[in-house]
Amino acid sequence: MQGQTAIAIATPNIAFVKYWGDRDPRLHIPANGSISMNLDGLSTHTQVTFDASFRHDQLILDGKPATGAPLQRVSEFLERVRRLAGWYWNARVVSTNNFPTAAGIASSASAFAALALAASSAMGLQLSERDLSRLARLGSGSACRSVPGGFVEWQPGRDDFDSYGFSIAPPDHWDLADCIAIVSRGQKSVGSIEGHMLAETSPLQKARIADTPLRLKLCRQAISERDFDILANVTELDCQLMHAVMITSTPPLLYWQPVTQLLTRTIQSWRKNGLPVCYTIDAGPNVHVLCPSSYITQVTDQLMQIPGVSKVLVARPGGPARLEK
Ligand code: PMV
Repeated sequence: MQGQTAIAIATPNIAFVKYWGDRDPRLHIPANGSISMNLDGLSTHTQVTFDASFRHDQLILDGKPATGAPLQRVSEFLERVRRLAGWYWNARVVSTNNFPTAAGIASSASAFAALALAASSAMGLQLSERDLSRLARLGSGSACRSVPGGFVEWQPGRDDFDSYGFSIAPPDHWDLADCIAIVSRGQKSVGSIEGHMLAETSPLQKARIADTPLRLKLCRQAISERDFDILANVTELDCQLMHAVMITSTPPLLYWQPVTQLLTRTIQSWRKNGLPVCYTIDAGPNVHVLCPSSYITQVTDQLMQIPGVSKVLVARPGGPARLEK
């Protein structure tokens, strides 16, 4: 039998209500529900080939062979897919991102959404969207939100079976944009897997979790009514709550750089002066600036004038993970 191959493409996503901390770290069952938007135009493109002649799994990431922890993480994920399919050939995974890896743009989300789809398809599994989202979650929690399209909610669930992402609105529901101010292209020092494990050491995590149902409700309402003010308030509050947990963990995690803080203040002052913008920040220093898409040019131009902002990437609401034919 010849090697089995498939190619999949997935976008990262930006969470308005964020996932931080696990109830079950092994299965990535999150401590709280979350809501995000897929980011069109940014993508991970992944080809997976299973072949009886391969002596071990291989990973080529952005043109370079990967070894050590990244290869092991991918190999452990492939092992789950092999177990699902019931056959055990090794694989070659060739993956490229068209955006900076591991710098607070959720590269692991698009990476594991694309890997879940390509690997399961190459093995002949035809998984439902829900099962694909559950599978992607096992690679990286937030990857379950990059499987369905548009605006996506991750139902935390209690176990592997009922923890998955589902679409709450299609990409064309709301013409929003994420203008990502790049302030650093460096790899972050503490990845999110370690970060999730520290969340419980913060005395603020309990309060953050307890308040999440209200933020989720407001966020659903903002999306269904396309209400930018509600979205701005809930997104910024949620971002600050997550970073408050991070900086009060033991040891503390501080992903921000001085320009990150400057951007949060600047964006709030732009909004006070009538510009519909708000910010959110993941586990890195870059700042995601949300606005209705008619303001993209103005927001991008203004961001580029801030010293320390090297580039602005623009993304509109993206579709689901898909196979390349
Ligand atoms: O899926 P992970 O383990 O990379 O965690 C994602 C964590 C945040 O990006 C900070 C928040 C989120 O919900 O995307």
